[in-house]
Amino acid sequence: MQRLLTLGVLLTVLLAGCRGHQSERPPIHPHLGMDFQEKFQAQSYNPLFEDKATMRKPVTGTVARGQLRGNSELHAGRTEEGEYVESVPIDVTRKVLERGKDRYEIYCTPCHGQTGAGNGIIMRGDYGYTPASSYHVDRLRQVSDGYLYDVIANGVRNMPAYGQQIPVRDRWAIVTYIRALQRSQNARPEELPEDLASRLERKVGTDGDAPSDTVRVAGRQPDASSSE
Ligand code: HEC
Repeated sequence: MQRLLTLGVLLTVLLAGCRGHQSERPPIHPHLGMDFQEKFQAQSYNPLFEDKATMRKPVTGTVARGQLRGNSELHAGRTEEGEYVESVPIDVTRKVLERGKDRYEIYCTPCHGQTGAGNGIIMRGDYGYTPASSYHVDRLRQVSDGYLYDVIANGVRNMPAYGQQIPVRDRWAIVTYIRALQRSQNARPEELPEDLASRLERKVGTDGDAPSDTVRVAGRQPDASSSE
């Protein structure tokens, strides 16, 4: 009972503080912390400059360190004349390929699938997306590396651009990996290294409609998604 009484008295005292009218005085701010600082806010007025704007534009004709995009082949995938470069302008090493695989699997597989056949996971449900292209068609085997780079950087028709997420060198790394995927699905027997070639079982057109140079490396099944 006594507790209840104390609570009641406390509440009355507290509520007595709120008299319900506006005050012109600033609210009490017992702990200042760093709440009030001498500084200019973004978009605020600034008498220091002629245009009285706090936010400054970069000086015309200057480029921030590391932001120069002056190498047209590397950054745009085009020659100075504006043509797509034929082949990747970076050294293609195993490390680059592996980086490309890694990035490809993050950014491209959801739509294009692991082998690039256009059967990524979101293409398999009935979600109504525009089908992603398969890379295993002659046209895309023949396009230049610069074109593939451009597709990644700027998108194409219904495919969104990935330039914002994927930095320049990673885009090229992905291009090298697309080339590797294309070869993996469209290799001719004579392109195989010796040790693999010797393990080839040649399936000579027995069942009529199989292409005459269909081959199988002993012990492996052909990938079902390799068809066009
Ligand atoms: C959100 C799904 C999606 C993702 C993710 C995606 N693509 Fe695509 N891609 C598409 C679609 C859809 C098309 C076909 C566009 C069209 O024809 O309108 C396409 C087409 C392409 C083409 C063929 C262009 C042509 O000339 O026909 C290439 C090459 C390609 N994508 C590469 C990539 C690469 C590389 C990545 C990863 C960096 C990627 N795509 C990520 C959906 C996607």
